[in-house]
Amino acid sequence: MKKIYTNKFFYPLIEDPFSKDDINEGVKVLKSKQITISKKTKHFEKRFNSTLKTNYSLMVNSGSSANLLALQCLINPYRKKRLNYGDEVIIPTLCWSTSLWPIIQANLKPVFIDINPDTLNIDESQIEKKITKRTKAILLVHVLGNSCNLDLILRIKKKYNLILIEDTCESLGSKFKNKYLGSFGDFSSFSFYTSHQISSGEGGMISCKDKIDYNIIKSLRSHGWSRDTSFENKFSKKYSNLDKRFIFFNSGYNLRPTEISAAIAHSQFKRLKTFIKIRNNNRRKIISAIKNDNFLCDKLEFYRNNKNVSASWFGLSIKILDIKRNNKNKIINRLEKNGIETRPIISGNFVKQPASKKYNLINKEKYPNTDYMYDRSFFIGLPTKSLDRKFINKVKLAFINSFK
Ligand SMILES: Cc1ncc(COP(=O)(O)O)c(C=O)c1O
Repeated sequence: MKKIYTNKFFYPLIEDPFSKDDINEGVKVLKSKQITISKKTKHFEKRFNSTLKTNYSLMVNSGSSANLLALQCLINPYRKKRLNYGDEVIIPTLCWSTSLWPIIQANLKPVFIDINPDTLNIDESQIEKKITKRTKAILLVHVLGNSCNLDLILRIKKKYNLILIEDTCESLGSKFKNKYLGSFGDFSSFSFYTSHQISSGEGGMISCKDKIDYNIIKSLRSHGWSRDTSFENKFSKKYSNLDKRFIFFNSGYNLRPTEISAAIAHSQFKRLKTFIKIRNNNRRKIISAIKNDNFLCDKLEFYRNNKNVSASWFGLSIKILDIKRNNKNKIINRLEKNGIETRPIISGNFVKQPASKKYNLINKEKYPNTDYMYDRSFFIGLPTKSLDRKFINKVKLAFINSFK
């Protein structure tokens, strides 16, 4: 097999993710000198929308920015029903830092819920117990390509009239009952960071269901500008003394992507289905090699897709079965020494991170499923190039040597 890896691991989290076409698309933009947001970004947003069957999508410079915009939109004064200081947002303990911080940054209160140890997603059965009069939203984190039971979530959403945000940063292309993750919520975020399902180096997308939300987000993405939003006419008429090209009617950030990122992400997006298929096959081959090995078969277990989920795997999440005998950190160190790059499952129980202590997010509650999972689990990447038998054997040997 041709050598495809370039870094110190023979099995890194992600091999060189860009094809010649991706690079050419980026270079074309660079040569055109139209590097700031323009037609390519709009074109990609439309394509993203029509593929995922989301109502509105806007590209941003990261998945974190997408989460920030969703939460800022919820408290924005142009929203008819805005959330208020101290309103509660339900979030799983197993989340990324910037799934959580936008809630705090919007002066809202996160309410943590433990995970289902089989799916790594929020434990649906614990949600209703945590709902109070102040609960206004649920933020789901679709972990590493998997999802919770969205039928149950939608039922709870309806019953308590909640807003649903799907952090889909790790799960672009996964489906629940044949519908793309990220198309269920009022808002959803996606990441195109390097090791994700598609990549533009940095980049992300925010999708939403409502037209006003879309226009609020558009202005928040771009300095609070009225330009190119449905508010433009109203404000240019009302403020005729101002230069109508530069009317700032809202608060804002600059979270726009470059045209280069949009061109590269779009080029990758066209191959998403192929990536999903190859990653799935590679996953199957590695699992089968390990499960069929006499030495490894009782040492490792693999997380599977939830019922009704057809997964677009981000990586291969693995559980060590006997951590008394096989300490996780030891195994991980050995795997890395033996050429396999590893990652923890997101940030583990986020309540245990030092930042949660600093910001007083710690309470007396325990989240045993997240802790149990974190103590024995990790993940490795899944290449988007097909792995042959020789290579799979090498992976298996690296695992065997890491347990010896
Ligand atoms: C669940 C989740 N949400 C949000 C993000 C943030 O995405 P980005 O790195 O594009 O800012 C990540 C990053 O990996 C993530 O895993």
